[in-house]
Amino acid sequence: MQNLIDQMAKKVDEDLAKVSSNETLAEFWQTYLSKNGQVTGLMKQLRNLSADERPKAGKVINEFKAKVQAQYDQAALRMKQLELAQRNAAEAVDITLPAKMRPQGALHPITLVKNQVIDVFAGMGFEIFEGPEIEDDDHNFTRLNIPKDHPARDMQDTFYITDEYLLRTQTSGGQIRVMDSKKPPIKVLSPGRVFRADSDATHSPMFHQMEGLVVDKGITLCDLQGMLDCLVKELFGSSVRTRLRPSYFPFTEPSVEVDVSCFECGGTGCSLCKGTGWIEILGSGVVNQNVLRGCGIAPEVYSGFAFGIGIERIAMLKYGINNMGLLFENDLRFLKQFSE
Ligand code: DAH
Repeated sequence: MQNLIDQMAKKVDEDLAKVSSNETLAEFWQTYLSKNGQVTGLMKQLRNLSADERPKAGKVINEFKAKVQAQYDQAALRMKQLELAQRNAAEAVDITLPAKMRPQGALHPITLVKNQVIDVFAGMGFEIFEGPEIEDDDHNFTRLNIPKDHPARDMQDTFYITDEYLLRTQTSGGQIRVMDSKKPPIKVLSPGRVFRADSDATHSPMFHQMEGLVVDKGITLCDLQGMLDCLVKELFGSSVRTRLRPSYFPFTEPSVEVDVSCFECGGTGCSLCKGTGWIEILGSGVVNQNVLRGCGIAPEVYSGFAFGIGIERIAMLKYGINNMGLLFENDLRFLKQFSE
């Protein structure tokens, strides 16, 4: 028996030296330690021995089996470490490689201008109100002193949804919503998208406006001009001046168009200001008494002014953009040029 074991031990050592993977390890186990393995099989040979020899042989076999098992365990541990080392090597990250740069986003020029306008008026204590984009005829027109067959309706090519509902053509309807829900003093700025069936280099079917409304006792056009002065200096530079020109809007009386001195030529006349030295930037006026009255605000006690700014127009002037479409194509080569 001892002989047999010595021979087998030699083979075991040889085979163990060949174990280099999980497969060869499993083969080793199969050959020696499994139920039908050679080491396990040694026990079966006990029955060929005499009763006196059996206990001693049994002990020798058990010791041998324990030794082979220990050898196997050690090999198994070695395989595990090997496998881990291989995996680590395969998954290693080379921290010296240059990183992939992520392109950095920036704010859209429309957002930049919108934020700038909001900043100026927020600094003067204005609140923000956002009205609905799907508006009713009443808020968009009638209560702004533009009744059903008023010619001013033709100025705005309206997208009607039904007879009563439409895509708002101006943020001015927000004035009515604000004055219905809040009584003076009122200082509100109302930004939003507006829609008109109109499209060319300076018009888009969807564009952005910013409505301003101030109502309190003793408000005059001087307050308007003072506030707008602050705005244009912030937008176009501190040397820019404003002027008011008579105009017409049904919801303001008197109505004015606000011009800024040309920030390109300083007022001497150039192609941007078409030689006039002035550039029109927004519509404005003293809130029409009919509008105040319609919202339950007594015009004998309160007065107010309102204005509406086209954000795209300001962005185009400020950044020298000659086609409004560029603002909506979202071509990164274009958008990358704006940071402030
Ligand atoms: N809603 C006008 C437009 O879209 C702009 C406007 C003019 C708004 C005068 C006003 C205003 O609040 O007082 O053309």
